[in-house]
Amino acid sequence: MKQHSTSAAMAAAVRPALIMAFAAAGTAMCFAAVPPKAGPMTVKPATSMEQAVQDGARIFAQDSFGTKQTWVPEGAFGSHLMSCAACHTDGGVPEGTSPAGAHLPSLIGAASNYPKYKAKKHTVFTLERQIVHCVRAGVMGKPPGYNSPEMVDLVVYLTALSKGSVMGHQMPAVTH
Ligand code: HEC
Repeated sequence: MKQHSTSAAMAAAVRPALIMAFAAAGTAMCFAAVPPKAGPMTVKPATSMEQAVQDGARIFAQDSFGTKQTWVPEGAFGSHLMSCAACHTDGGVPEGTSPAGAHLPSLIGAASNYPKYKAKKHTVFTLERQIVHCVRAGVMGKPPGYNSPEMVDLVVYLTALSKGSVMGHQMPAVTH
């Protein structure tokens, strides 16, 4: 009887320790399950920021990201492959309407409002995620990798369109 109660007491003492150990293991497993998955970074030599802006502008105006989707620009004789410029005309500067009739915001100042909460998707989009979304759903092509030179150039171009605009003015204030 005495022994029983001792082992019960020991079990009671051991249990929290075990729980702690499992909790610690669980935390460690969480870290193990989410490795830093940045993917390979192909670093493209850049000669200057001006060059990167120009490269981004060219990708924005011309790249079709492997799409098969075509559209017929106003006044054109034939169809063109989709690109960012099919919807965001004149380098994304003016507001507009996409070929399918969706409202298009001007991209001036857009980059300074990212990261941005997207209520429809219940998630926060980084600028890169928005670009991936527009390549998939807009251009209907294969999005560039998050760390790819194309992504870097597009981010540079869109950020340059936000030159001088206040960063994060839609952000909530940090409270401590
Ligand atoms: C088929 C039309 C279409 C194409 C093609 C397209 N977009 Fe968009 N884009 C939209 C629409 C519509 C919106 C506004 C709704 C939204 O945020 O998804 C938008 C929004 C954006 C925004 C966010 C603006 C803001 O104020 O939040 C960025 C940045 C953007 N597009 C970049 C691009 C880039 C870069 C490409 C080319 C890789 C591209 N888009 C191709 C239709 C398109």
